[in-house]
Amino acid sequence: MNTLILEQANMHKGSLILINRMHPVFEEPAEDMLIPADHRHPDILLERRAAAMYAALIHSLDGGERIVPVSGYRTKKEQETIYTESMRENGEEFTRKYVAYPNHSEHQTGLAIDVGEQKEEIDFIRPDFPYTGICQEFRLKAARYGFIERYPQGKEAITGIAHEPWHFRYVGYPHAELIRKHQFTLEEYTEFVKSFPYGREHLLFEADGQTAEIFYVHALSSPTVRIDIPSGARCEVSGNNVDGFVATVWRKNG
Ligand code: DAL
Ligand code: ZN
Repeated sequence: MNTLILEQANMHKGSLILINRMHPVFEEPAEDMLIPADHRHPDILLERRAAAMYAALIHSLDGGERIVPVSGYRTKKEQETIYTESMRENGEEFTRKYVAYPNHSEHQTGLAIDVGEQKEEIDFIRPDFPYTGICQEFRLKAARYGFIERYPQGKEAITGIAHEPWHFRYVGYPHAELIRKHQFTLEEYTEFVKSFPYGREHLLFEADGQTAEIFYVHALSSPTVRIDIPSGARCEVSGNNVDGFVATVWRKNG
């Protein structure tokens, strides 16, 4: 066994952090952790791992000429500008539906990307990304590359944001597959994982001859918490930005 020590302060970092009206951004990514998601659009940055997976997804679809990254990482200041300008141009009702309040936008984490179908005019706040053609192919493959459609139709009361077919969020694999399979939002998945606490029954996901064991670690009771991981197993840990961590331990089957 190897022991991992998780520090409460890191609860706000990682690919599974929940950002919404209730849960603000605590930490913006370091500049050297941000890279272009698509070399054809060098101004649109994502956190390194999310960028690499986005590039791989686009490459697998040979979609670089038909799908355009419209908005990726934004600073708090940029989110403020977008919010203020939208309030002025589109009014409060529209803005509250489609623009997260500054410091409450996933775009500030470098884990979210808005994508649009290539066309002459692309709307910056609401790009077209239909449920047909290459855009739908992107959507169907996205989970394998760790991305979810973050603001689905019918879940507005949970996410606090209107249906946004263009906004994708990197949460990592296999979490994106589980979210898609259960038709969860990230809010619902964050709660769901809590029913698999460390030391009790864990959530299992099997694929490609490997099993991922997923569990929740509560972090509010002490500044650090220890977890034991089988030696040789690959373990990924992310904060949930609410009250703890989600650990994913990979093992080869057989
Ligand atoms: N459009 C999403 C909600 C944002 O502004 O982060
Ligand atoms: Zn977005």
